[in-house]
Amino acid sequence: MITVVGSLNMDLVTYTGRMPVIGETIIGKSFRQIPGGKGANQADAIAKLGAKVRMIGCVGCDDMGNTLLESLNNDGVDITLVKKVEGVSTGIASITVDSAANNCIIVVSGANNMLTVEDINASYDVIQDSEVVVAQLEVPIESVKTALKIAKQLGKLTILNPAPAVPLEDEFLANVDILVPNDTELEILSGIQVKDEADLIIAAKVLMDKGVRELVVTLGSKGAMHINKSGLKIYPAHQVSAADTTAAGDSFIGAVAVAINEGKSLDEAIYFATAVGAITVTREGAQSSLPLREEVEAFISNIKQ
Ligand code: ATP
Ligand code: RIB
Repeated sequence: MITVVGSLNMDLVTYTGRMPVIGETIIGKSFRQIPGGKGANQADAIAKLGAKVRMIGCVGCDDMGNTLLESLNNDGVDITLVKKVEGVSTGIASITVDSAANNCIIVVSGANNMLTVEDINASYDVIQDSEVVVAQLEVPIESVKTALKIAKQLGKLTILNPAPAVPLEDEFLANVDILVPNDTELEILSGIQVKDEADLIIAAKVLMDKGVRELVVTLGSKGAMHINKSGLKIYPAHQVSAADTTAAGDSFIGAVAVAINEGKSLDEAIYFATAVGAITVTREGAQSSLPLREEVEAFISNIKQ
């Protein structure tokens, strides 16, 4: 069992030829409401890739919350620990995607902010019943910190996607087995400006000195880099035609969690996740873009031919 502690958002997505500049009004191409939220996306990715997964989070008592829960449930995510909170709206993300597949995202957290340390403590048995715990930073930091601390005390493997990034205490990072930031998140966490590979290695060393054991930096169309005390390895991205990169990172992290949960090495997990990320970017939206296990197997066997 994999437990995901994190956010659920309804994504309000506008597709446009280009991004407007400040003060400008432009006409977009289309609009869709798509289930999203980093936590829910990672849980959904895990379910679609074939692992048992449980989500801990919060939605409001509204139509968007109901839609998000129904969608996750249909995809096989256990939603029994998603709390419905009165008097607060379900989280939303206002997303704009241009024709080059670039995106801008503003999240209004709403109910996601209501996930308390008490909720996490009350989920102790659920964490105990899990092999892997996955978290991000779209729910209150203290709740994430508590979940990772309990998981490590119980000897579970922890994966943190530090997004959206904020500087984290050493005590927090010490409870993370596999940290998966993108390059901008790595900058914020390490305090090192990352302009090239040399900077990336310096920034990674800063975090490893704070107790991070395995660092997997995602680099969009450039792929991913795994760094630990023994060295580094680059995993080039697959050449695909990107339509919308939303949830690429989430699908990648979900895939790492699934592969590790199946007993694969981190090297095998990153290879698998690179394929999952590549498929995700070819499709529109967050959860709408996440591939099923058989699609990933077919993609990988095509590459090998
Ligand atoms: P997001 O916040 O949009 O979920 P992210 O910044 O956390 O994304 P990325 O680094 O963009 O994550 O993507 C995760 C992984 O997905 C990459 O490491 C890469 O393997 C794959 N990927 C992303 N973009 C592309 C692309 N254009 N082509 C092929 N693979 C891609
Ligand atoms: O990582 C992508 C996600 O970030 C979107 O689904 C959006 O909800 C924001 O949380």
